[in-house]
Formats: sequence, structure tokens, C-alpha cells
Amino acid sequence: MSVIGILTAGGDCPGLNAVIRSVVTRVGAAGSHEVVGIKNGWQGLMEDDTRPLGQEDVRGIAGTGGTILGTSRMDPYVHGDGFASIRKTLAHNGIDSVIVVGGDGTLRTALHLADEGLKVIGVPKTIDNDIAATDVSFGFDTAVQIATDAIDRLKTTAESHNRVMLCEVMGRTKGWIAVHAGLAAGADAILIPEHQMPLEEVAQVIRSRHRRGRRYSVVVVAEGVRPPRATPPPTDAFGFDRLGGVAYQIAPELEALTGFETRVTVLGHIQRGGTPTATDRVLATRLGAAAADLALGGGERLMVAVHSTRIEAVPLEAGVAETRGVDAQLFEVARTFFG
Ligand code: F6P
Repeated sequence: MSVIGILTAGGDCPGLNAVIRSVVTRVGAAGSHEVVGIKNGWQGLMEDDTRPLGQEDVRGIAGTGGTILGTSRMDPYVHGDGFASIRKTLAHNGIDSVIVVGGDGTLRTALHLADEGLKVIGVPKTIDNDIAATDVSFGFDTAVQIATDAIDRLKTTAESHNRVMLCEVMGRTKGWIAVHAGLAAGADAILIPEHQMPLEEVAQVIRSRHRRGRRYSVVVVAEGVRPPRATPPPTDAFGFDRLGGVAYQIAPELEALTGFETRVTVLGHIQRGGTPTATDRVLATRLGAAAADLALGGGERLMVAVHSTRIEAVPLEAGVAETRGVDAQLFEVARTFFG
């Protein structure tokens, strides 16, 4: 029987298990192929670390966080011998095509491997919601809900103390989580890489708000905003920049400008952990089913994407184009509620 492989690579994201379950169930229903799970992203393909996946393995996992396959940022072109070891794993397991669930970095690697002959179907994944060619990615809704809940909570404690709260959320280069959560929770200012407000302007908003008798302000900060003092971020074991903590640099500057005590909460990986929202489960399931259908039909070098209400196939190249930033119109609406 023909075999379809599936791997999850890069940072994890709520909804990965729903994709895996959907692929296994859809392929199982077709009856013509088997599914092999590849462990820990590209690492499993490089080191021939795989496991068969059947219906029993995916029962009840749509609502669980993380990924049952594990993930890593291992890249065959950076940490391995490119396609050579992967070719051996494919042959050993009889894998015809691989469904790759990952962010823009993973999809870029998938495209290089496709150039060398790997049959790939991409499924876009990131809580950052910034992958080109898809209107939205799963995991984003969950992250926004978690951040919104956190900001709601920060408001009440901030008000008791007449404080300014900075809530730092994820978003390496684009501020989708910051803008959506900030808008939903009524943030007084939102700092994102695409439209970075000068701190003096943020301070003015806060000063005028407190002059009007408000006893707190909440500022949402995307982790990827330019820090006041440019210092190279530390890197992880795979050479990937570790962001997080820019709000600690911003807080004292804002405190000096406003005169109000300013505290920081960095939400970090809490935004990526735990159960996906119903919206993310549904989206991940639809994307998984579409990817399975493409693989079953012999498709390759494609990515599944959300276009309005439909799931469509686009060339893999489209998914690795320049990441998608927050549109100016959305940010303009959020600005209406500042202060
Ligand atoms: O790209 C998704 C993301 O969650 C970013 O928002 C964040 O900067 C990064 O992953 C963190 O990755 P890691 O868990 O590997 O540090």
C-alpha cells in the first residue's frame, strides 16, 4: 500500500493534533494509503524516526495541545546532509509523499526538498498568523483568546493600583496577536513591528487618559518590536533568535515619561500551550482533510490555504513569500480606542 508521511516542525501550535487526526482519518477512509508519523519535524526524516499512525493513535486528540509527533527546529540543510538521509528514510518506509505542517521557515525547507524531488503538501501553521497566501492560520485564535483573557485580568489589578501594565505577546515580525487581543480587550495602546508608535506618543495617550480620571492603562507589546536599546537576542540550540522580554526595556522608559508605576507581564509560551479553541480545531481539521485529499490525489509542491470561507490549494512558493503584516485598516480601527 502507498504511504503518506506527516510531520510537524518549528514552534508548536494549538491545533497540530487536530491536523494529524484529520489526515489519518481521511486517509484511512480512502482505504488506498497508510499514514506514517515522522517524529520531531525534519529530524525524524533525517534519522529515520517514524511510527505508523492508525485510527486508534489519533482518537480523541483534536482537543489536545502540542503535537503527538513532537517537533523541532532541526533543518536538513543546516544541521544535516540535505536530501541524502531523507531519501533513505523515504525509501526505507516506502513513503511516497509527505504532509508538512509548519511555519514559513519549515515551508521554505519543504520547497528546497521539493526541488530535489520530495513530494510535499504544506499545511501552514503559526500562532503569529503571518504566513503569506492564507487569510488565517490555526493556533492564532487560541493565542488571541489567551492573550485577551490575560489583558482583561491585568486591567482589574492595574486599576486597583493606578498602574500602567505592559502585556507582551508573541509575534516575531508581525503584530496580529497584539492587535486582535488589544482590540478585543480594549488596550490603551498597541505596539507592533509594522506600525511602531513612538514611546512619547504612547506616554501622551496615557497621561491624557489618567488626567481624565482613569486609574489604569494597558499597553500591548508584540515581542518583535524594536527594542529601545538594540542588543542581539540570544539564540536557541538551532541558532534561532529567542525573543521575549522587550517590554522590560520599554517599561522604565514609559514610567519615566508618564510618572506612573509601570509593570510588565510577558505571556510567552502560555499563548501556545493547552487546548485549541473550537475555531482552531475546526480550521485545523479542514486543512488536514484538504491536505490528505491532495496527497491521496498525487498532488505535490502545494500548500492548503484559507481564502475567505474556502480551503484551497496554492503553490508552495506562495506560502514562503514575504510574511503577511497587520493591515493598516485594522490597525486604524484599533487606534480609535487608544487612551
Ligand atoms: O513563530 C511562532 C512563535 O510562537 C513566535 O511567536 C515566537 O517568537 C517563537 O515561535 C518562539 O519559539 P520557541 O518556542 O522556539 O522559542
